[in-house]
Amino acid sequence: MNLPSAHPLVTGKTTNSALVRSYLGEKTETKAIWLMRQAGRSLPEYRKLREGVAMLDSCLRPDLAAEITLQPIRRHNVDAAIYFSDIVVPLKLAGVDVEIAPGIGPVIDKPIRTRADFETLEELDPDGLGPIRDAIQLIIAELGETPLIGFGGAPFTLASYLIEGGPSKELPVSRAMMANDPDLWNDILAWTARVTATFIRGQVIAGASALQLFDSWAGRLGLEDYRKFAAPHSKNVMAALEDLPVSRVHFGVHTRELLVDMYGVGATVMGVDYETPLDEANRILGGTVPLQGNINPGFMFKPWDELEAHVRDVLERGKSAPGHVVNLGHGVPPETDPDVITKMVALVHGEI
Ligand code: CP3
Repeated sequence: MNLPSAHPLVTGKTTNSALVRSYLGEKTETKAIWLMRQAGRSLPEYRKLREGVAMLDSCLRPDLAAEITLQPIRRHNVDAAIYFSDIVVPLKLAGVDVEIAPGIGPVIDKPIRTRADFETLEELDPDGLGPIRDAIQLIIAELGETPLIGFGGAPFTLASYLIEGGPSKELPVSRAMMANDPDLWNDILAWTARVTATFIRGQVIAGASALQLFDSWAGRLGLEDYRKFAAPHSKNVMAALEDLPVSRVHFGVHTRELLVDMYGVGATVMGVDYETPLDEANRILGGTVPLQGNINPGFMFKPWDELEAHVRDVLERGKSAPGHVVNLGHGVPPETDPDVITKMVALVHGEI
């Protein structure tokens, strides 16, 4: 579909940005950098704004969501903003009783574990995305030529919260459902696919210049289970977004053996975690896919010399790929010193 005439990719404001061009496979003179979880707890100005406001309430207040999205842009000179929200926001908008418990993550009051539970789920009406559209309008008015990235959770990662009721490493209820009631599993993931696609689509139409699908926990599945129980649903999400003229980044952790399949569901750019060097990821993917990543978040706490050497190594290995957007190999740890991030961005931009 054609984007609205005020969209920054239609007016041309973000079309020539380093981020948009690198995602399309161009090697830019200066590399673009943004950081997963750049908007959030590592920033004192974020913690101040969030005082007394629950996480999901802050996501649904356009003034707050816009301000938090813009904070890292003002502070670090990164090349893209990521929309401040959470992967569970579309679940909440669809009526699921979900909260984010500080220090824990999403918690769901009544997990979806039976056919009867599943039947209580309602579809997400795009008209219910008002707070998201309003926030994004405020954001792109201030961003100018800096692109905004929209995002959502992939069906598997989202369903792992919906079914387990909260964060879980072993995913016992999900694994039992895959084995014993694959029809219910598939129905639940098909629903999450529709809801998350509606959420991402709303962000792109409202003004995002690229999108990222987070399947953070996909690496907990082996390749065979990923193919059987997760990939078909992620493919449906990507297919529902394919008509939008933006790059589609796909990211998960511990995903070396899944990279080819995660690309194959319809991504155009692969996010690489900190475990797989970029030259190796490039080889695995056949040398044709723009990459994003993959500074090890653990290096944010090391002496500057070691961080600098690591960043230079990431930049060097990234040269093998058709396009490279620098990022961490997972989110910014909350305890990170924001000044280290600012300095690291300057290093990637060749300013130090
Ligand atoms: O800066 C950004 O990247 C934009 C905003 C963003 C958040 N969550 C805000 C947030 C994004 C892109 C996400 C994605 C997200 N949320 C993922 C995928 C990425 C990843 O980290 O793997 C997942 C799995 C979630 C679910 C979720 N939400 C978790 C696991 C947590 C952490 C719980 C904790 O406190 O450690 C959250 C909460 C959350 N989402 C916070 C933020 C800023 C922290 C809330 C706070 O300030 O207390």
